[in-house]
Amino acid sequence: MGNIPQHVAIIMDGNGRWATKRGLKRSIGHKKGADNLEKLCDHIFNLGIKYLSVYAFSTENFKRDTEEVNYLMNLFVNMFTKKKKIFVKNKIKVVFSASYDNLRDDVIESMKDLSESTKDFQDHIFNICLNYGSRLEIVDMTKKIAQLCLDGKLELSSINEELITHNLYQDLPDVDFVIRTSGEERISNFMLWQSSYAEYYFPETLFPDFNNEEFDKALIVYQKRKRRFGGYDEDSTSKN
Ligand code: FPP
Repeated sequence: MGNIPQHVAIIMDGNGRWATKRGLKRSIGHKKGADNLEKLCDHIFNLGIKYLSVYAFSTENFKRDTEEVNYLMNLFVNMFTKKKKIFVKNKIKVVFSASYDNLRDDVIESMKDLSESTKDFQDHIFNICLNYGSRLEIVDMTKKIAQLCLDGKLELSSINEELITHNLYQDLPDVDFVIRTSGEERISNFMLWQSSYAEYYFPETLFPDFNNEEFDKALIVYQKRKRRFGGYDEDSTSKN
């Protein structure tokens, strides 16, 4: 099957365009995106990929119309509550990379309940970035580490890359492969620290249409890439 990435991250873009192209409300696009994510999630974990991160809602998405923000928040509560049984059945541990500031109480409650109910699973880790911004995550991590130093619990000399990773919202391995659907070629404040050495892929397909076959095509692209991590090709025998 080729080289399978350990950690895949998806920026699920194009839900709104998918709907407007069909004369539908943007919210229908988000619902289609959510249905697609459910199938994709199963497929990705069945392929043996251990970590899947998705960008569900950015800190900047609060700038959208109240109607759209409310629709998305209701969709999250619905998904987290109604699909809990499925996550448990499939032994998927759900974690959230999130700032809890500005989130509704019922959204926070459904997030906490889902992560609590799935916390003992180990084989598949589903990281949902919700009210997430990578820069804010780095600011929050810096405050945590600074507080530990101020409290005398940490020496300045102990701060290294590993410690920073451990103090982000979730302590996850580096992202290997970032996919952003819909043809947009931007990172939009998504997992900047974790994706430093990732491969990037920008298919034209809008997220509701980015189905299992599209994911398999993406995987083939990943498998053809040569990852160097700043060194030489993994398979090169000579440095020339
Ligand atoms: C970006 O597309 C998409 C979002 C802001 C929402 C993503 C949410 C889902 C797919 C819902 C399911 C998620 C979970 C975790 C239950 P866009 O609306 O910006 O699309 P556009 O660029 O075409 O307007």
